[in-house]
Amino acid sequence: MKPVNELLRENIRSLEPYHSAREHHQGGGLVYLDANENPFGRKVNRYPDPHQRALKDMLAGWVGLAPEQVFPGNGSDEVIDLLIRTFVEPHTDNLVLPDPTYGMYEVAARVQGAEVRKVPLKEDFQPDVSAMISRVNDRTKLIFLCSPNNPTGNLVKQDHLEYLLRHFEGLVVVDEAYVEFTRTSGFLALLKQYPNLVLLRTFSKALGMAGIRLGYALAGESIVRILTRIKPPYNVNRLTQQMALRRGRKPERVQKLVNLIVRERARLSAFLNRCRFVEEVYPAQANFLLVRVKEPDKLVKYLKDRGIIIRNRSHLTRCERSVRITIGKPRENKRLMKLCRQFDQQYVHF
Ligand SMILES: Cc1ncc(COP(=O)(O)O)c(C=O)c1O
Repeated sequence: MKPVNELLRENIRSLEPYHSAREHHQGGGLVYLDANENPFGRKVNRYPDPHQRALKDMLAGWVGLAPEQVFPGNGSDEVIDLLIRTFVEPHTDNLVLPDPTYGMYEVAARVQGAEVRKVPLKEDFQPDVSAMISRVNDRTKLIFLCSPNNPTGNLVKQDHLEYLLRHFEGLVVVDEAYVEFTRTSGFLALLKQYPNLVLLRTFSKALGMAGIRLGYALAGESIVRILTRIKPPYNVNRLTQQMALRRGRKPERVQKLVNLIVRERARLSAFLNRCRFVEEVYPAQANFLLVRVKEPDKLVKYLKDRGIIIRNRSHLTRCERSVRITIGKPRENKRLMKLCRQFDQQYVHF
């Protein structure tokens, strides 16, 4: 890997970060006349901890890393954006992505004015890593992978990831937004071995807190330090930090809900496999199923007219005639199955 300092954009290397008032002074017992806050009110009149110390301690404890290796953001979408803004020089640098994958990597890259080099997934939905490396040039700063991948739902094989980590000089970012549904620790163990690996995780999926907007990167300390220099000072608000800490105290509840969703995933998958309008239910590791059906537009409309929204993914590479269905509550899944049964019966008479 190139030293992080070399990978950085020139203007970021020389940037003098903003120093916020709450950076040095926190906590009770002091009179705060330093941040132009309103002194009245109790809960949210003060800015939050810009270093998110308690949150980082908790997250680091979960994954067995140092707090200095954790970078929380306003959703992983913010972390994706910050990574791109830190390393990718507009109109000069590029990044390499598998296709299809989560759409925000490309959107954030294009906002930055970066060239996006997309490499189709192989037929088994694994990234075509040798083709990806062949698209790398000396202006390629980042490769993104997503495991389990959205929308295909499969895990990236470890040897494919390691191939990229060994053959690429820049950063390989692996988005593990759905890792908890795999009941594995994802690629956490590789962080020690590969300084160019960055993992992304989120509170939006298994932790059930998409509304509070909290995602985080796990990476080497030098990468976290740079992201910290350019982030907005109070990027994770006080309420979010508090709610995340509270949720963190109830890991057994999170585990129970993950187990339920995984069981429901198996039930829905088995059901769909018996439907005549279904051509293939792809193996799933996340909290959604990708399903190839005979007439996706008709199915999506049929369900929508009856109050259930699923996502048509047919326009994406390798997702011909496919829909993505998020696993809902048991009674929601039951309703979906009932409607699918009706659709299936109608379908044979079309
Ligand atoms: C792979 C992946 N990463 C990230 C996100 C967004 O995460 P966050 O809510 O933390 O911004 C999503 C949302 O669907 C996703 O599918």
